[in-house]
Amino acid sequence: MDAQNIIEVRDLAMRFGGIQALANVNFSIQKDSISGLIGPNGAGKTTVFNCVTGFYRPSGGTIELRTDGAIREVGRLLKTPLRGGTHMVAQAGIARTFQNIRLFRDMTVLENLLVAQHRLLNRNVLAGIVRSKAFRSAEREAVERARKWLDIVGLTNSASRMAGELPYGHQRRLEIARAMCTGPRLICLDEPAAGLNPRETKELAVLIRQLRDQHAVTVLLIEHDMGLVMDICEEIVVLSYGKVIECGNPQKIMNSQVVIDAYLGSPAASTELEAA
Ligand SMILES: Nc1ncnc2c1ncn2[C@@H]1O[C@H](COP(=O)(O)OP(=O)(O)O)[C@@H](O)[C@H]1O
Ligand SMILES: [Mg+2]
Repeated sequence: MDAQNIIEVRDLAMRFGGIQALANVNFSIQKDSISGLIGPNGAGKTTVFNCVTGFYRPSGGTIELRTDGAIREVGRLLKTPLRGGTHMVAQAGIARTFQNIRLFRDMTVLENLLVAQHRLLNRNVLAGIVRSKAFRSAEREAVERARKWLDIVGLTNSASRMAGELPYGHQRRLEIARAMCTGPRLICLDEPAAGLNPRETKELAVLIRQLRDQHAVTVLLIEHDMGLVMDICEEIVVLSYGKVIECGNPQKIMNSQVVIDAYLGSPAASTELEAA
């Protein structure tokens, strides 16, 4: 695996019954980059995220991760006895947000950030019962990290509100805080600007840059807002019908005939491309 890459996807395939959602998908993402995964609706973008983060077990191919000096393959992590699945991928430093926001709506904003950390820390139940010193200090650190991230995403004043009561744009920011609380090396954002107004989208661009520049995380985002993608992404991978049809910098993508053709087949997406 190339030392500059944080992730290398090789020959990834995913089949759902009769639907070949992904076939021969190959791409790599450079460490410390802000990269984009784009393509018309149904192209397979979220499926790629689901495979990378261990939510789905691919029908074929490999996904190698290089984080903190260790190389791991997602398929192997999924086979780890007892502790397989998304948990092992999260521990390898991969975090994500969801296209359809998945917060605990009836918990407070702060509690949402604590739950995320508890899951990852694999807190031993016995340690919780006896409330050892190590347990208490880990708890304290979790609260500190949660507060830090509330501050960064601008939700400090909403800490004790129910997550479900927050305005939509704030829920999106809370999802990012939740993912970042676990200290990931790679964060996968699935349509983070969906439903945001232009001002919120600008603020999101600032936040995403800040994540990479100040918090040592590589960003991979799926996004339909082409203005945002072209503004913040350094490298872009384009999917269409489950295949990678192009990759390169924004300039190359904007001028690529195969990309334009793929988007022309999809009316909503072609206006997005024009608007960018
Ligand atoms: N869990 C699933 N079961 C069956 N089909 C799925 C599932 N997830 C995705 N698909 C199908 O895979 C294709 C790609 O979907 P998706 O990855 O969500 O696309 P995108 O995120 O690019 O819009 C679509 O045809 C979709 O219907
Ligand atoms: Mg999707």
